[in-house]
Amino acid sequence: MAKNIRNKQETKVLVVGAGGREHALVWKLKQSRRVNKIFCAPGNAGISRIASCVNIEAGNIGALSDFAARNRISLTVVGPEQPLAEGIADEFQRRKLKLFGPSRQAAKLESSKIFAKEFMRRHHIPTPPYKVFSTAAEAIGFVKTAEFPMVIKADGLAAGKGAVVVRNVDAATQAIERIMIKRELGEAGNRILVESFVDGQEVSIMAIADGKTILPFLPSQDHKQAFEGDRGPNTGGMGAYCPTDFVSTDIMDKIKEYVLQPTLKGLSQEGINYRGVIYAGLMLTPGGPKVLEYNCRFGDPETQVLMPLLKSDLFEILQAATTTKLASVGQLSWRHEYAACVVMASKGYPGKYATGVKITGVPTKPDNNCVVFHSGTAGNGDKLTTSGGRVLGVTGVDQTLQQALNRSYRTVNNIRFDGAAYRKDIGFRVLKKSGNK
Ligand code: GLY
Repeated sequence: MAKNIRNKQETKVLVVGAGGREHALVWKLKQSRRVNKIFCAPGNAGISRIASCVNIEAGNIGALSDFAARNRISLTVVGPEQPLAEGIADEFQRRKLKLFGPSRQAAKLESSKIFAKEFMRRHHIPTPPYKVFSTAAEAIGFVKTAEFPMVIKADGLAAGKGAVVVRNVDAATQAIERIMIKRELGEAGNRILVESFVDGQEVSIMAIADGKTILPFLPSQDHKQAFEGDRGPNTGGMGAYCPTDFVSTDIMDKIKEYVLQPTLKGLSQEGINYRGVIYAGLMLTPGGPKVLEYNCRFGDPETQVLMPLLKSDLFEILQAATTTKLASVGQLSWRHEYAACVVMASKGYPGKYATGVKITGVPTKPDNNCVVFHSGTAGNGDKLTTSGGRVLGVTGVDQTLQQALNRSYRTVNNIRFDGAAYRKDIGFRVLKKSGNK
């Protein structure tokens, strides 16, 4: 009897996903005094050290909702975009199960770049000019007369690899052919956008929304290209740091006024009660912030720098968002330090890579000033192996960005796996300017 009463009061959280972002979410939720048990589906080797991993893929919405119902999960938190785009929030709502994440219709902000652009146009949210094309011939005809550089974007989901900056007609034609004729990104390339290139500092702004209130996290900066100096192909993200000092209070106020508030208001006007993360990928231009893209979930690896700095209880924030009580959370509380994440990837990523490669040197002692978040790992203890393109994200926290990076790189240098690839210049866009020590 006593056991039953205790079970009734238990707060159980299910995190959906298998990457570094999900490891960071689980790591932070684990610190909540309100949470008694955390499951992660399917999780990875690092997550299994701090939560119970469940062998259900993130795309198996039926099995996830069955699991949440059977185990009386208090809150399910969805990491990746795919299940959101496929309607996991709608299915959980149908079954009266609590879930943090937007509906399928709302997730179109990320799952269709064209939907997002048209939404921004309807609601006067600043974004670079663009044109939409449904055939390669029309698109190629257009780029012959347009100004360079420009950005070619696949309409659908492409794991961060669907946008290409091109500087001449040949490169633009090749990008269009790869997306629309060779179908390298599958159905994501049914339609494309051609967008004007805008220059400036790029910043990721993630905010939690409950349909009425929007609560921004600290700004962070991702490093999308595979190689140093922002060269090479786009990846899911090779590193990040937070906060970004170039986002002044004045700029943040503008982002709230011209981007975040109008986004939430626009969604509401279109009948969408958005509960989840609104992630605006912004370019700060001389003409003000411009939205390059929306995502409908936490960023990866941005989450790996936000969670170690967040002092507020993440569970309370996410729960408040699912019950329209975000206004009562007030301001978020942060460590007044810097966090920097260096992603270690498999040789060949974002192209083809091997898995099952042995990993050594991952510290076993927990350290809140240097956390190793697992992205693509399997096995356990001294049998840790690679299982994905991005393998680990090492986040250092310290008084300055340079010191935070020094912590990350010291740990990275002790971790070994054959072909391990990582950028040695995370933070370079601000460090070369400020000489931050
Ligand atoms: N780091 C970029 C993203 O999460 O989409």
